[in-house]
Amino acid sequence: MDHVPIVVLDFGSQYTQLIARKLRESGVYCEIVPYNEKIEDIKAKKPQGIILSGGPASVYAKDAYHPDSGIFELGLPMLGICYGMQLITQYFGGVVVPADHHEYGKAELEFSDEFACQIFNNTSSGQIVWMSHGDRVDMLPDGFERIARSTNSPYAAIANLDKNIYAFQFHPEVYHSEKGTALLKNFAKYICNVESTWNMGSFAKEQIANIKEKVGDKKVLCGVSGGVDSSVVATLLHEAIGDNLVPIFVDQGLLRANEREQVEAMFKRLEIDLITVDATEEFLGKLKGITDPEQKRKIIGETFIEVFDREAKKHDDIEFLAQGTLYTDVIESVSVKGPSKTIKSHHNVGGLPDWMTFELIEPLREIFKDEVRALGLELGLPRDMIGRHPFPGPGLAIRVMGEVTTGELRLLRESDVIMQEELKANGLYDQVWQAFTVVLNVKSVGVMGDNRTYDNTVCVRMVESVDGMTATFAHIPHDVLERISTRIINEVDGINRVVYDITSKPPGTIEWE
Ligand code: XMP
Repeated sequence: MDHVPIVVLDFGSQYTQLIARKLRESGVYCEIVPYNEKIEDIKAKKPQGIILSGGPASVYAKDAYHPDSGIFELGLPMLGICYGMQLITQYFGGVVVPADHHEYGKAELEFSDEFACQIFNNTSSGQIVWMSHGDRVDMLPDGFERIARSTNSPYAAIANLDKNIYAFQFHPEVYHSEKGTALLKNFAKYICNVESTWNMGSFAKEQIANIKEKVGDKKVLCGVSGGVDSSVVATLLHEAIGDNLVPIFVDQGLLRANEREQVEAMFKRLEIDLITVDATEEFLGKLKGITDPEQKRKIIGETFIEVFDREAKKHDDIEFLAQGTLYTDVIESVSVKGPSKTIKSHHNVGGLPDWMTFELIEPLREIFKDEVRALGLELGLPRDMIGRHPFPGPGLAIRVMGEVTTGELRLLRESDVIMQEELKANGLYDQVWQAFTVVLNVKSVGVMGDNRTYDNTVCVRMVESVDGMTATFAHIPHDVLERISTRIINEVDGINRVVYDITSKPPGTIEWE
């Protein structure tokens, strides 16, 4: 965005994302940037106010995170939260000390009567706030006043009213701070003079204008999977550049039953000319004889790239590649996070190699999954599409244990359709994050009628999750599970046993491979 009214510097608190969420819910657009963002880059966003987030470190630690000190001299209104408060105190000459004991939990905020503080507008003394800190302010810097205290924190909120600098020891962004949203909104409205005019409609308009300006009359390649994110990106681009969008949908032969038809029908309804590439034989041929999960993923990832490269060469003037990268994907790579181990090589169209020299367009980089859904509705995407469960790039290949064959893919597709039907019929589809079946390639003995059977096993996997990073198995009523099991065994030839996965993540992952 050209103008970002509030910039949030991220010092690594697990709550930073919530600051952005609360402000945007209040109609105030903001962006989160790493704590060490260069001052020129912050200035380029033309902010009207800065928020310093919390963080796990102590300001006195050897490797403590410090921002470019120029931000304190910009003359902009500033709000420090927890670690952010300690940074402000330290910079302006106050004293921060380790607390005798860590304060964690609810506290009552008591206003200092002598200051009529606009940041507390429409909230009252005695409100409950959420504390979670080790260090605390012991002596205020010159020019700062106490504006509120709590039982355990003499300086629960402080301010330099002349400089418009405020700081809270507590976390207004968390659910348990009962007036927290109002406090953040007050900072934006009364201290920074930012009006609450932002909404998904204005976001869409701005993104469309940005894309138009950036792309001009060049072409943009966009990989479409049928999932929410790539569909929203394609729709935004189509609004912006019309037929200069080249949307490519690769049928790798690993889609669910009727999925290709559904995706094609949806794009038709949106009046976007989708290019479907049928690469079934290519993918299944390369997967022949492969049983190792990582090898399967690598082969699929590489084959996607080959298909894209081939398709791109058929069009002139493609200079850009659009991707549905979300904020949650970006935050993983922000500098305050340490390196993490590869559990699975996740891939989507994003993992393109250097030799594909497209410039990237990522219009969803700053927003969250549920905001993407709201944006999709704004752009006229159908509701059933917006609510679809996530589906992995490698498709059904990672839901067949061992070698992927057309026989096993049939078992998977047929059992998956039954499970989805039953979930929807019982009003449970929207309550779970993801639900699917897995073909285990384990044979067991059964009895049907008077006959012995010796057939394959299907596992039903249903999880509840907020972001896919952690998950719990869904507590589905037993009668629904029973119906799913009975129907799969009766209707899918080749399955005589159905099991339910009761593993959460961690220690399991959501997909089986
Ligand atoms: P796991 O199995 O790692 O999955 O717990 C977490 C979420 O990510 C999805 N997933 C993928 N999505 N490409 C994707 O686009 C992939 O390679 C991939 N692998 C897993 C999975 O379905 C779940 O929602």
